[in-house]
Amino acid sequence: MLIKKPDEIKASEITDKDIYTSRRVFLRGAMLTATALGTGWLYRHFATPNQEGAAGEKIADVKTASGASIPAIPDARTSYEDITHYNNFYEFSTDKRLVAPRAKNFITRPWTVEVTGLVHKPKTFDLDDLLKIAPLEERVYRHRCVEAWSMVIPWVGFPLAKLLDAVQPTSQATYVALQSLADPNQMPNVRSGSVLDWPYVEGLRLDEALHPLTIMATGLYGETLPPQNGAPLRLVVPWKYGFKGIKSIVKIRLTDSEPTTTWNHDNPQEYGFYSNVNPEVDHPRWSQKTEVRIGEFGRRDTLMFNGYGEQVASLYSGMDLRKYY
Ligand code: MTE
Repeated sequence: MLIKKPDEIKASEITDKDIYTSRRVFLRGAMLTATALGTGWLYRHFATPNQEGAAGEKIADVKTASGASIPAIPDARTSYEDITHYNNFYEFSTDKRLVAPRAKNFITRPWTVEVTGLVHKPKTFDLDDLLKIAPLEERVYRHRCVEAWSMVIPWVGFPLAKLLDAVQPTSQATYVALQSLADPNQMPNVRSGSVLDWPYVEGLRLDEALHPLTIMATGLYGETLPPQNGAPLRLVVPWKYGFKGIKSIVKIRLTDSEPTTTWNHDNPQEYGFYSNVNPEVDHPRWSQKTEVRIGEFGRRDTLMFNGYGEQVASLYSGMDLRKYY
């Protein structure tokens, strides 16, 4: 299928906002459908990794997380090459293999994260403060994209709960809103104002954000995160579809109402606020029952809550997960 990439659409072609918006929705839909249907075939035929893209630096003193709330994953880890060269980071490109080369000079120092809203101690943290919030731990998690592919990634990070503890949410706070950097000087699709409404935003219920499995990742495979994976820090919520894992975060706000999230705002029929991995609730245009594990042949069954049901199902007791998809 030949799809003109949104970042190739010239401003002069944009006449009417409604026509433009509906074309963007169509193009995105077409891209996601193509990805969902074609992932296995494309992967197997073009799996030679692109060597471009910044490598990380070794992180000292990474503890191995353990305990009943953090289950061990028996599945083989996805290779570093695949994790770092098959990426979704639409600010740079909608082509998974172009993200790494386009993001390779992304500047991640100095970096600050502003935490505001319903908190007793609002604060702007610089990256070094954040890296000292809690001991860095390795967390090997399944990563399931809504496009029906998956990986197993050894993240390095710290619980988001530790960061939230530091700002002391007020008793009114019930949600956490997160925002990515949107820098037109460094991000081609932000510069052209194409693909999505920038900045990319995401959100969680406060109890989801405080869950021990929810982490701020600062590295993978024992090294600092490469730009294409969301350097210098991104969210990882392993029981939710990958698009909840917002990259290159610059702002966090505690609120008392459900925050706007990029994909839900863009297409509410297809992407909900919760977006828990659920093989029983198909995407309107493809099945979510199975997935392609990148680096493997064939398809695997998708697991409810991505296999983390024992840890997280109680967060949703009494909720109809078809309605709150
Ligand atoms: N965050 C931002 N800012 N921009 C994005 O385009 N893509 C999301 C998520 N976070 C995205 C983002 C999607 S769709 C997925 S599947 C994961 O990042 C991909 O993470 P990975 O490239 O590290 O596998």
